[in-house]
Amino acid sequence: MVMFHVTRVETKPYEGQKPGTSGLRKKVKVFTQPHYTENFVQSTFNALSTDKVRGATIVVSGDGRYFSKDAIQIIIKMAAANGVRRVWVGQNGLLSTPAVSAVIRERVGHDGSRATGAFILTASHNPGGPNEDFGIKYNMENGGPAPEAITDKIYENTKTIKEYFIAEDLPHVDISAIDVTSFGGPEGPFDVDVFDSASDYVKLMKSIFDFQSIQKLLSSPSFSFCFDGLHGVAGAYAKRIFVEELGAPESSLLNCTPKEDFGGGHPDPNLTYAKELVACMGLGKSNSQDEPPEFGAAADGDADRNMILGKRFFVTPSDSVAIIAANAVEAIPYFSSGLKGVARSMPTSAALDVVAKHLNLKFFEVPTGWKFFGNLMDAGLCSVCGEESFGTGSDHIREKDGIWAVLAWLSILAHKNKENLDGKKLVSVGDIVRQHWATYGRHYYTRYDYENVDSGAAKELMAYLIKLQSSLSEVNKIIKGICSDVSKVVHADEFEYKDPVDGSISKHQGIRYLFEDGSRLVFRLSGTGSEGATIRLYIEQYEKDPSKTGKDSQEALSPLVEVALKLSKMEEFTGRSAPTVIT
Ligand code: G6P
Ligand code: ZN
Repeated sequence: MVMFHVTRVETKPYEGQKPGTSGLRKKVKVFTQPHYTENFVQSTFNALSTDKVRGATIVVSGDGRYFSKDAIQIIIKMAAANGVRRVWVGQNGLLSTPAVSAVIRERVGHDGSRATGAFILTASHNPGGPNEDFGIKYNMENGGPAPEAITDKIYENTKTIKEYFIAEDLPHVDISAIDVTSFGGPEGPFDVDVFDSASDYVKLMKSIFDFQSIQKLLSSPSFSFCFDGLHGVAGAYAKRIFVEELGAPESSLLNCTPKEDFGGGHPDPNLTYAKELVACMGLGKSNSQDEPPEFGAAADGDADRNMILGKRFFVTPSDSVAIIAANAVEAIPYFSSGLKGVARSMPTSAALDVVAKHLNLKFFEVPTGWKFFGNLMDAGLCSVCGEESFGTGSDHIREKDGIWAVLAWLSILAHKNKENLDGKKLVSVGDIVRQHWATYGRHYYTRYDYENVDSGAAKELMAYLIKLQSSLSEVNKIIKGICSDVSKVVHADEFEYKDPVDGSISKHQGIRYLFEDGSRLVFRLSGTGSEGATIRLYIEQYEKDPSKTGKDSQEALSPLVEVALKLSKMEEFTGRSAPTVIT
């Protein structure tokens, strides 16, 4: 057995190692500065309780982006030096974020061991490569991201760090082959267990969904399917699940070989960045004569986000979670005994609220960010949840889950088409969504993003909107002067959330203007931008009348958009006459 020694290395703090809820995200060039990565990893070990480090089993893997392989070797050596007993690594260092969550919750090692946490190496949907982003995030024993108490501690540690520990003489571990390698250190044995990246996750998916019925759908000549992995880690799971398990042809997969630089693209599943898929589904300015597939989907770099498309049809993420919730009990075996509750983030449209009301389900509106759902799930209060930012998931893990969302939609399609697979006309994605609107009404929805706005200007705009809220009659007077076509504001506030589980209060979670007819305007500053400020404006209008649910959403929303822009004095404050992105 190869023996290793522990080296104590002296170091000095770096500024700015504050992890957000999605971990520490910086340019690769920042991470590769001397001791930078090591400082952060040691600060994380020091923030955990001793039993989660000494003698513990931890997972290390990620979306395969540039610098991951080097970071994995560093973390293995530092884990060994800090007394960790075992490190579990997905083959080639690949594990999607949802798969990491599944591995922590489900995987049992050869010796009966279980993981107590994970370093996930990803910057999610941000581009990758030597000049792009890298990230490290730590997830806890429940499979979810470290809570603020831990990330705050990590940050404090990074500001005072003086030393880190590393097994410099531990040989480079081959992470391309499935195997367990054992080493001997001052505190006893240390193992690196390289395992198949997909099998635990596939097993979990098979326990949730009826694979046989999805297989029947996929093999029906009248059905066709396309999945875009955007060169991220989702490709590894797509091959295993859609092709090997469910029998879809290889040709239905686009960009499903994970690449360190995501093929130079932006691995974010939306109508702007998933260009190939969008064209293939007959959306956008495609000149292709081919008939688009019935169903299309994409996931982001680390496979926790998703986008769902039908033939020439875009499903908004807000509608997607509502439709999954409405059909879950019938179409997905995991939910057959009922939903414990449902939840959405505040800026997500109220489509889910209407479903919850109809089905008499517990409902929660939480601030933006998956951690709030995690708390509800740990307390058994929530089964299905989603966000407008292309995140959908359930309590099977404690992360959002792109492949799960695709399987949920395939399950609904399989369920609705049980009798149609022998050549009858299929119920399409568009039919399902339109049917949903006919039953529950439609929430027209759009988001305007103003990226890289001067931070001071963005704060002033927000302060102005808060000040305006002190007089609703004044607000309504201004609105009447802008447009007579919208109803009146009946409530306005800054969203605040009291977590029903731990009682913690989150303030300043976005500014809301709620209208009498159910319409909403929401203004929020993004928490994930890296340059300047990003203002997000969410515009939503509820239409109950089934004869009016078929309009183009930008058209239907144009009066409210005008009100939002003029009421907020968007151009005056930001100098922008148009948003950077409209979704
Ligand atoms: C990440 C989180 C999501 C959240 C999103 C919001 O993706 O995982 O839970 O919805 O960020 O981003 P924003 O830029 O709007 O703060
Ligand atoms: Zn992601």
